[in-house]
Amino acid sequence: MAAERGEFSSRFGFLMAASGSAVGLGNIWGFPTNTASNGGAAFLFAYLILAFALGYPALMAELIIGRHTRSNAVAALKSISSGKKSQFLALAIGFVGIVTVSLILSFYAIVSGWMMAFFLDPISRLLGLTSLSAWLTTDTEIRNAVFVIIFMVLTVLIITAGVKDGIEKWASRLMPALVGILLLLILYVFTLPGAMDGLRAYLVPDFSRVTDPQLLVNAMGQAFFSLSLGVGTMLVYGSYISKDENLPVVGVLVALLDVGIAVLAGLLILPAMYVALESGVQIYDDAGGLIAGPGLIVSVLPALFSNMGPIGLLVAVAFFALMTIASLTSSISMLEVPVAYSVENRGIPRPKAAMVVGAIITSISLVIVFNFDPLFDMVVSFTTERSQPLLSLFICIFAAWIWRRNEILEEIRQGSSKAEQGMFWKIWPFYVKFICPVAILAVYFQ
Ligand code: PHE
Repeated sequence: MAAERGEFSSRFGFLMAASGSAVGLGNIWGFPTNTASNGGAAFLFAYLILAFALGYPALMAELIIGRHTRSNAVAALKSISSGKKSQFLALAIGFVGIVTVSLILSFYAIVSGWMMAFFLDPISRLLGLTSLSAWLTTDTEIRNAVFVIIFMVLTVLIITAGVKDGIEKWASRLMPALVGILLLLILYVFTLPGAMDGLRAYLVPDFSRVTDPQLLVNAMGQAFFSLSLGVGTMLVYGSYISKDENLPVVGVLVALLDVGIAVLAGLLILPAMYVALESGVQIYDDAGGLIAGPGLIVSVLPALFSNMGPIGLLVAVAFFALMTIASLTSSISMLEVPVAYSVENRGIPRPKAAMVVGAIITSISLVIVFNFDPLFDMVVSFTTERSQPLLSLFICIFAAWIWRRNEILEEIRQGSSKAEQGMFWKIWPFYVKFICPVAILAVYFQ
């Protein structure tokens, strides 16, 4: 049944793919708004600490297990477990991971679909197609269904092409474009009146909030979601890294890229919100907080862009292209998890696996689209607040308590021969064994 496995062709290719997975709606939308509603830089500060102290060790657990076992999440966890009980647990965690990531993709595709619709809107206005523009920007079930399908077709097409010719190729094209667009937008927004108020709201900390349990829960959830942890994504990407690669180093680079782009996104979104305020757009909700949910991206920012005159069309295209790119490089990493399992454990050819799994997830997405109010928030909070942190906790337990320590060291040594003398090996095993599980549980039970 052993199908031929793919491999990333270079460090750059892996970094683009993994940071592409990590950088998504969570960074450009979730992080800035979480920061704004949780005491500005106090949240940023807590987030940075949690991302490196908890997120990075958990990320490393996935990368190391993945590269060692060279297989999908279910097979990987099973092969590092020796006893019957731990093998059973491995199967359970692997499958819950597959279900969780599929559900994440099913809501992610809906939001990504909105981004594509808003990307096409300014183009349609430029072409004088006003009724199309109205259709694109009105929240209807039918529009949402159409764009879920378009987005999922793109995701399936990339995954069908495989690791090197699909994931790596597209991530290597799209991620540099994303960074370029982000920087240009920041520079432009900084020239507008009101931007400095936004910068202040973002960077001046309200330190009285740093020990607020809710802030810590939000910051941890944000870190795990943003680093794509727990659901097997990073494990599967890790399984495609070359054996010569220095894992602790590439792990740090992925975490830095993820956190760096989140921080940059904050430099765009918060100033943009205050520029919108300055131009007369409502940015506070009825309770007096900043509008943070869907309203921010699909009403506040579009209102700002349309107040900008003709250049607003260009800015809108750039902004929603940014969002679409961020979504797509994340969605492919989600679909890869069940597809890798179907190819390796079920012997299904990749194109067929991508299509069938893609069709199942699209159907779930459509069920959510047509039952939005009862289902959407429920699926989001179940997957990201409940399932993801717990799965991450179990992966740490597998790496630190079930897997043999000398095998881990051997794996790290492959790409860095003096690994046991390095800082990573002095700290990480202790961290994943004790600190990560306890901290995740503590925050979870908040
Ligand atoms: N990290 C992605 C984001 O920030 C979301 C994601 C979660 C991707 C889980 C893969 C797996 O938007």
